[in-house]
Amino acid sequence: MKKIVIAIDGHSSSGKSTMAKDLAKEIGYTYLDTGAMYRAVTLYCIQHGFFEGEKIKEDALKAAIDHIDLSFRLNAETGRPDTYLNGVNVEKEIRGMEVADKVSPVATLGFVRRALVAKQQEMGKAKGIVMDGRDIGTVVFPDAELKLFVTASPEVRAKRRVDELEAKGIPASYEEVLENVKKRDYIDSTREEGPLRQADDALVLDNSHMTLEEQKAWLLEQYHKTIGS
Ligand code: DC
Repeated sequence: MKKIVIAIDGHSSSGKSTMAKDLAKEIGYTYLDTGAMYRAVTLYCIQHGFFEGEKIKEDALKAAIDHIDLSFRLNAETGRPDTYLNGVNVEKEIRGMEVADKVSPVATLGFVRRALVAKQQEMGKAKGIVMDGRDIGTVVFPDAELKLFVTASPEVRAKRRVDELEAKGIPASYEEVLENVKKRDYIDSTREEGPLRQADDALVLDNSHMTLEEQKAWLLEQYHKTIGS
């Protein structure tokens, strides 16, 4: 059967990762969480003292970027890929509030974006991949056969993030998370390079009032329509 690239972009905590993972599993595609790559680079910066308050030591990160190895390995327990930073499983650390707070400024850096976009293009060149992020349909794979833009209200997204963190045993306050969601929306959509933007040919899904099952069914339908089956 014809293999395609499926680009899923949208706001943070819009549920796009869950949708993308479920779809990939269902149709036997590889799943790539590009947000996890920006998060892992941010964790590297924290671990190596590259932050001075909110500011990043750009020169230090520039010198290190080619030595940051990112990979994904399937976690047999969850059935989903875990993120590895230089060979170490960092899946839990990259989902915490410290990384969430610092990731947007890292993701605005042009040299970071160029390095990660190149890796993503390499990982997707054989097709048969579902990639989720912010700039997949606009920058990474502008020719993707199926492009989706997923969104929901900031309040719905903050509630989802709190539930997700709590399920992983990471305590979180709703107000703090809501603030973080809004701040990230702003930085993500106003940055110069690879801003969060809906591709002209993307299908838009506002899932504020949809169940996971409804989203899954809708997405599967779009996939079948695209491949013509
Ligand atoms: O999807 P997420 O919340 O895990 O993404 C984490 C951060 O990385 C978010 O602030 C936006 C940024 N990001 C990006 O700039 N480009 C991508 N392709 C994916 C994520």
